Amino acid sequence: MRAVDLIEKKRNKEELSKEEISFLLNEYLKGNVPDYQMSAFLMATYFNDMTAGELLEFTTIMRDSGDIVKFDDVDKFLVDKHSTGGVGDKVTVVLAPILSALGMGTTKLSGKGLGHTGGTIDKFESIEGFRFSNTREEVVSIANKTGIGLMGYSDKIVPLDKKLYSLRDVTGTVPSIPLIASSIMSKKLAIQSDIIILDVKVGDGAFMKDINQAKELAKRMIEIGSGRQVKAVLSNMDEPLGYAIGNANEIVEAIETLKGNGPEDLNEVVYTIALLSLKAKGEIKDLSEGKKKIDEVINNGSALEKLSQFITESGGNGNLVNDYSLLPQPKEVMEVLSAKEGYVSKIKAEEIGKAAMIIGAGRATKEDLIDHAVGIKILKKVGDKVNKNEKIAEIYYNDSKNVEDSKNMLLDAYVIQEEKVEKQKAILEIIE
Ligand code: URA
Repeated sequence: MRAVDLIEKKRNKEELSKEEISFLLNEYLKGNVPDYQMSAFLMATYFNDMTAGELLEFTTIMRDSGDIVKFDDVDKFLVDKHSTGGVGDKVTVVLAPILSALGMGTTKLSGKGLGHTGGTIDKFESIEGFRFSNTREEVVSIANKTGIGLMGYSDKIVPLDKKLYSLRDVTGTVPSIPLIASSIMSKKLAIQSDIIILDVKVGDGAFMKDINQAKELAKRMIEIGSGRQVKAVLSNMDEPLGYAIGNANEIVEAIETLKGNGPEDLNEVVYTIALLSLKAKGEIKDLSEGKKKIDEVINNGSALEKLSQFITESGGNGNLVNDYSLLPQPKEVMEVLSAKEGYVSKIKAEEIGKAAMIIGAGRATKEDLIDHAVGIKILKKVGDKVNKNEKIAEIYYNDSKNVEDSKNMLLDAYVIQEEKVEKQKAILEIIE
């Protein structure tokens, strides 16, 4: 078999056999197919898509390129919630303790932020002493004590995705539905869980800019996972989730949500995913039934206690859930005032994510170091009325180098119009 023949087949919209896909991917992993040939194949895929059969085979070979992690020794109903990446997305930090307080467990891989999107690892690493587990044994030990099993990505799990993603990143082939679907699902299928819930973000700050694309991505990921229980929610990313964008400040917002003071949109996403989990576990028949159970673990403090335990077990000081001064603090605050009066119709989430990145809250490249103390707080959401010169955001920073640019990006991100605007729903669709 020759790689060039397989590239030509994909270019000509012919279907590749299982053997052909296996040859291409396995030889690429071994270094026998060079990057330039794989790049051509990825670009041909970008334009010509994959059939369902090709996609399943592609994903299976990616999954099997590394370790498969089993959690048979965690005696809980296990939920793996995955977000396709957003701005202000601290859902895992809130959801995992809630699921734990409800008697379930979380087992999932968590990532670092890149570009305008944040990552769960970075948010938790704002906590002094916190160490992300990298081995199965550590994750099992913490998950058995706290119900929360978050594991950092390692080179041993789906190494093929790492290699392919780096290539896609520099060849303009990231935003391809089959390539995103196989990349995400190969990692989901490499980790044992009882249900996979995909939070597919839609809008300005997401890979999927419109709802039809997002539906297609969700549908194809569910198809790939047909041997497992997979559900999806489509959630709005035409504004950041919640008010805090950064790292330490997102931990504070997550804690406040566990104390019952959460922003409406963050609550909506967290509750919906928790309800889907309760239903999958068989505790409720209909999504309308379980809200009280979730309210209870928030109101009685048990979900917050789970987060505190998880922080302590991971090497941090769990008391910080009641003492935010234990988190890194920024030195300076800059206020951002609205340039005009009207109603907020959109907050370009990607622009907000970049405004946070350039002051140090995120990374432009994988090698960049981040400053966990800095970030942005937006004070107005879509649908809110603003007056001219009213404060719409605050920038928390340590280094003033890019702060003016950050402010201008924030001003540009706020789209304000004269006519009244409806508040947006956070959950656009549930695909069960
Ligand atoms: N997240 C992934 O893990 N892979 C992609 O290709 C896109 C988002």
